[in-house]
Amino acid sequence: MNFYVMTLFPEMITSGLNVSIIGKAMEKGTIGIDAVNIRDFSDNKHNHVDDYPYGGGAGMVMQAEPVYRAYNHIKEKINKDKKTRVVYMTPQGKVFNQEMAKELAKEEDIIFLCGHYEGIDERVLEEIVTDNVSIGDYVLTGGEMPAMIMIDAISRLVPSVLHNDESAEFESFEDNLLEYPQYTRPVIWKNKKVPDVLLSGHHLNIEKWRREQSIKRTFERRPDLLLEAVKNFSKKDNIYLEKLKNNE
Ligand code: ADE
Repeated sequence: MNFYVMTLFPEMITSGLNVSIIGKAMEKGTIGIDAVNIRDFSDNKHNHVDDYPYGGGAGMVMQAEPVYRAYNHIKEKINKDKKTRVVYMTPQGKVFNQEMAKELAKEEDIIFLCGHYEGIDERVLEEIVTDNVSIGDYVLTGGEMPAMIMIDAISRLVPSVLHNDESAEFESFEDNLLEYPQYTRPVIWKNKKVPDVLLSGHHLNIEKWRREQSIKRTFERRPDLLLEAVKNFSKKDNIYLEKLKNNE
């Protein structure tokens, strides 16, 4: 899978993603990350890519033409017949979540567009953007960190980026539930003991305990997720949730 990032700060993208699991996946060639500097596509001798907003107001606006040229440069590298998603990072977009990450992980190529200053000329956004995406209801100084967050979350769902033992199968947001708590050695730490069931070796009991912990965590920390989660609940899950609600 290939990610192309249109940005004024390509070194942010490359240095931020060049480590750990994502860095290894890049080394292996499982994923490719190509940060394209919009400034290289400036149409004036001063290499400016921004200008004052029509109608007045604070700040500068990124011009349409350099962004459009950077986009065409990327498109030439990608199979031209294919429709490639172009994701604009903006607080005005749909809020990113695990479901969106899963959907985007099916793509072969994704282009990200990162804005700076007060935004980007609307006309080029209309021309090229297929998805407006936000990473949450707060405003950042640029789209680079949001793009990096999306690339990280999407990459780890690409087959063979994670090892089997780091599998993304049983983790938070699977079935809209949070993950159960984890423990490792030693058995006792600061007078706190690892739950007996995890030491029992009884796999069915462990599975039951983990499922209940997931439901309990979600009930306590993210009750908003339960509305969707209950759609996949078994009879036992429902009985356990009722107990939680009744404080039993
Ligand atoms: N750019 C600035 N703030 C952002 C946000 N919350 N999400 C995505 N892109 C942004």
